[in-house]
Amino acid sequence: MNTPLEAKKVSESAVEMRSLVMPNDTNPQNTIFGGVVMSWIDMAAAMVAERHSNRPVVTVHVDDMSFKAPIKIGDHVLIKASINYVGKTSMLVGVKVIAENPFTGISRHTTTAYLSFVALDDIGRPIQIRGLILETEAEKRRFQEGKNRVEAMKKNNLKK
Ligand SMILES: CC(C)(COP(=O)(O)OP(=O)(O)OC[C@H]1O[C@@H](n2cnc3c(N)ncnc32)[C@H](O)[C@@H]1OP(=O)(O)O)[C@@H](O)C(=O)NCCC(=O)NCCS
Repeated sequence: MNTPLEAKKVSESAVEMRSLVMPNDTNPQNTIFGGVVMSWIDMAAAMVAERHSNRPVVTVHVDDMSFKAPIKIGDHVLIKASINYVGKTSMLVGVKVIAENPFTGISRHTTTAYLSFVALDDIGRPIQIRGLILETEAEKRRFQEGKNRVEAMKKNNLKK
C-alpha cells in the first residue's frame, strides 16, 4: 500500500470494465441509451480516481461527449479508463468506449470522454492528492494534453 502522497504509476489505477448490452439498456431501435453509456463511463472513471487517490471522489466536470456509432443490444461494451493528469486536489481521467460484436469479433471505437474528479477529506472538502509517475510516451502526451484541457476549462469557467 502506498503512503497517501507517494506518486503512483498510471497503470496502478487503470480500469477496464466490460458490460453486456441488455434489453433494459436500450431504446425501441434496440440500440443503447446514451445515459446508460454515460453512467458506465462515470463509474469506470470514478473508480480510477478512487484507486489513484485512495479517497472518496466526486465528479466535477464532464467534457463534451459524442457517440460516433450505435451500440446494439447483445454487444459487449469495453470501457478503458486511466488517469491522464493530476492537479492539487483534482484528477482528469480519460475514457475510451469500444463496442464489440461477440459473434463476429468486430469492434468499434464509439466514444472518447474526459472527466474531472475531486478527492475529498473526511468532511467533504477537497484534499491534496498524490502525484503521477509517467512511464510511456503516450502517458506523457496525455498528461500534456490533459494539462492544456484543464487550463482551458479553468479559463472557460472564469468567463462564466
Ligand atoms: C467538489 C467540490 C467540493 C469542490 O469544491 P470547490 O469549492 O469547487 O473547490 P475548489 O475551488 O478548491 O476546487 C478544487 C479542485 O477542483 C477543480 N474544479 C472545481 N470546479 C471544477 C470544474 N467545474 N471543472 C473542473 N475542475 C474543477 C479546481 O480546479 C481544483 O483543482 P486543483 O485543486 O487540482 O487545482 C464542490 O465543487 C462540489 O461538491 N461539487 C459537487 C460534486 C458532486 O456532487 N458531483 C456529483 C455529480 S452531481
